[in-house]
Amino acid sequence: MSDRPYYIAGNWKMHKTRSQAAELAGALVTQLKDGKHKYLVAPSFTLLETVAPILKGTNIRLGAQNCAAEEQGAHTGEVSVLQLKDLEVQTVILGHSERRHIYHEDDALINKKLRLALQHGFEVILCVGELLEEREAGKAEQVCETQTVKGLEGVAAGDLGRIVIAYEPVWAIGTGKTATPEDADAIHAFVRKVLAKLYGQAAADKILIQYGGSVKPENAAQLMAKENIDGALVGGAALKADTFVPIAKFA
Ligand code: 13P
Repeated sequence: MSDRPYYIAGNWKMHKTRSQAAELAGALVTQLKDGKHKYLVAPSFTLLETVAPILKGTNIRLGAQNCAAEEQGAHTGEVSVLQLKDLEVQTVILGHSERRHIYHEDDALINKKLRLALQHGFEVILCVGELLEEREAGKAEQVCETQTVKGLEGVAAGDLGRIVIAYEPVWAIGTGKTATPEDADAIHAFVRKVLAKLYGQAAADKILIQYGGSVKPENAAQLMAKENIDGALVGGAALKADTFVPIAKFA
């Protein structure tokens, strides 16, 4: 067992209205009060102002699902780090596979966002992960290496304490197909090796690597038992306290 803490995060994606978000956030605050791990929820931009006061002073961090690559200006439809800071957001998820594959964000853009978010004091969860065809072609490691190296380009060792990696194999997201704990752990170990090449083993050993892709109450404990799996980035099961809390309190 490593001495890294566990970090369980809920990505609410494009779900919930303000009243539904307030209800879920309130339930999580109550039910995770005695939780032993690090927690986060990432609601849509429109819900942040509603959820922020509910989470304030609790053990659940407030995250955003994306941010713009520029601080401000003529960028219709984008949301800037200054606006997120104003809403007391603490963490930004970047490079999610839905951003990469539906909205065509590339590594250079993700890296620009990541450096801007770090510069403004945010913690960043950088998502990496291969498509099914890339896995079948034996390219899973290569894809995760490229996304990790390019995503972190220009990041100083001193900022690594605010970097979390989330390995989310695209074929496991929202499909009910979870990577086996062994397969996930193998990629996590590989990504940690990539991090060690970039920053040295001691620094790499401190970086949390979450797994994401059909994490459920039934499989959370087996995944978390693996040496290199330090938490989860949960989608579908994060939308209800009934399913998120058991994951967050996996035994
Ligand atoms: P699911 O848990 O719904 O597979 O989603 C995972 C994910 O994409 C979290 O960011």
